[in-house]
Amino acid sequence: MEWGMKNRLSQLIQKDGKALFLPIDHGYFQGPTHCLEKPGETIKNIYQHADALMMTRGVLRNCINPAIEKPIILRVSGAATVVGEDLANENLVTSIQEIIRLNASAVSMSVFIGSKYEHQTLSNLAKLVDECEDYGIPVMAVTAVGRELEKRTARYLALCCRVAAEIGARVVKTYYCEDFDKVVEGCPVPVVIAGGPKTETQKEVFDFVYDGMQKGAVGVNLGRNIWQTEHPVASIRAIRAIIHDNYTSQEAFDLFEQVKAGKA
Ligand code: 5RP
Repeated sequence: MEWGMKNRLSQLIQKDGKALFLPIDHGYFQGPTHCLEKPGETIKNIYQHADALMMTRGVLRNCINPAIEKPIILRVSGAATVVGEDLANENLVTSIQEIIRLNASAVSMSVFIGSKYEHQTLSNLAKLVDECEDYGIPVMAVTAVGRELEKRTARYLALCCRVAAEIGARVVKTYYCEDFDKVVEGCPVPVVIAGGPKTETQKEVFDFVYDGMQKGAVGVNLGRNIWQTEHPVASIRAIRAIIHDNYTSQEAFDLFEQVKAGKA
């Protein structure tokens, strides 16, 4: 692997082999998402605890200080929204020149496997990988299901992750599911866990992050379960402790309570 690619990957996946990505790209398909109306404000007190931030060029340019010392994973697919016909009908919406101009450490795009737009989104992934590999920029594939959340089984997600890796993604982001080890085992590149809609309780998040890490994930790409919670700082610090400090779910919950109470 050439130096540039290695360097960018090491900005994302830390020396311990683990990673905490904080996505704030939700507006690209659902508009001003709850708690993300002003993305710069949303991340003001939490970005410090993340290893990388994921967003579109619009949010990056308008809401993020260019002096920020965090690698950026640029979301480069889009052009479908929650009020449109089909969320899976995505295309590439950012050129390679723009990716380089914005100094992205990586790019991300969604693939919708099993949908009407499987071929289109997988072909887009291949095109993006070809362009980004020329410049040593890693592509993170997001295995997306749109509104069909029930698709999230180990069998389906294992297929999605493997296909995305075969096409050339350097990292794959997928949903947590039961038997998550089966998803990771069949994927030759690092897998990060997506968050999904906000859970009922804080502990549920710690449970699935802990279990996913035990089963081979390298980390998370988790948004709403951090910045839509009542205590985003406590939440991200507890999740970070699971990822980088080997905390159990219960230990993370105890840390969460301490941070919440201003005792840590
Ligand atoms: C959408 C995305 C988002 O980044 C993703 O949903 C992660 O955020 P959350 O944890 O809120 O689900 O890639 O496809």
